Amino acid sequence: MFDNKIVLAGVKPTGKPHLGNYLGAIKPAIALGHRALAQGGSHYMFIADYHAINAEKNPAVLNEMLKEIACIYLAAGLDPKESVFYRQSDIHEIPEITTILYAYTPKGFMNKAHAYKAAVDKNREAGKPDDDGINMGLYTYPTLMAADILTFNTDIVPVGKDQVQHVEIARDIAGAINAHYNRDLLRLPEYYIDENVAVVPGVDGRKMSKSYGNVIPLFEDDAAIKKAVFSIKTDSRPLEEPKDPEEILVYQIYKAIASPAELQEMGDGLRQGKLGYGHIKNMLLDAVIAEVKDAREKYNYYMAHFAEVEGMLEDGAAKARPIAKETLKRLKDAVFGR
Ligand code: TRP
Repeated sequence: MFDNKIVLAGVKPTGKPHLGNYLGAIKPAIALGHRALAQGGSHYMFIADYHAINAEKNPAVLNEMLKEIACIYLAAGLDPKESVFYRQSDIHEIPEITTILYAYTPKGFMNKAHAYKAAVDKNREAGKPDDDGINMGLYTYPTLMAADILTFNTDIVPVGKDQVQHVEIARDIAGAINAHYNRDLLRLPEYYIDENVAVVPGVDGRKMSKSYGNVIPLFEDDAAIKKAVFSIKTDSRPLEEPKDPEEILVYQIYKAIASPAELQEMGDGLRQGKLGYGHIKNMLLDAVIAEVKDAREKYNYYMAHFAEVEGMLEDGAAKARPIAKETLKRLKDAVFGR
């Protein structure tokens, strides 16, 4: 599916990720990059820092968030020698390309883009004016995202469901430009949704999410992970009572992380009344710690040696820019009739 394809993914800083982010987004994104590379394709992964300034205005906070996100991806196994890993703001051609795309972006697309619509809905619910607190960066962000994608002749953009509309907007803008000049100036991207990605429940059974306060942390110490795992909701049935594993939250979380054999062992133990909640929480704890141990060490290393990461990002930008320059030239030549 990725034969010789150009796959591009953008990541926004999220703050310290939890186990749900890690298993449900970060690891699958990196695995997908490896798949693309193994099939002769190329993989671009960038930190969407221009997107981040729409929401975060404190430079110290922003800087820390951007450092964290770079270190997280490297710690989780992104190989910057294989994947092109860069910061959006280092590719000066992207804002120039965005300006050209604006001329082909119907304003109505932006009105309908759901990041903007969600912000308006929130204002209405709070009884505020529609556009309260909404800046032009947020309003026009699908056009910048289109430039992120179109600059690198992207074939495939792996996304979550919430981003599908934005890839479609990129495709529509590219199609409008190609039609106007009657040639293939820009490659039409497609989105790709990975259906096998785990949705990890949190310690209270709702989707794991920072806003619910139900997370299992990732880059904290073993004690913090243990505290969260032991707070997972259980009931007071005795150990010997046979249980349906599917009804047990610890087991549901274990599913996202355990091997089939490990999962079988926990399932059998519960069905046969041989494993109690203390046992299965320890099994889950061991699995989480085994999973994150290396990544946590690497993360701490990169955070403490950020100059190395800086060098990797600069190398990434040096690889990416020649392609961005070509795209910009192609567009300018067409637009200005040179
Ligand atoms: N909008 C994406 C998000 O919120 C991040 C992003 C920015 C992106 N530019 C992109 C994703 C280009 C894929 C391709 O997660």
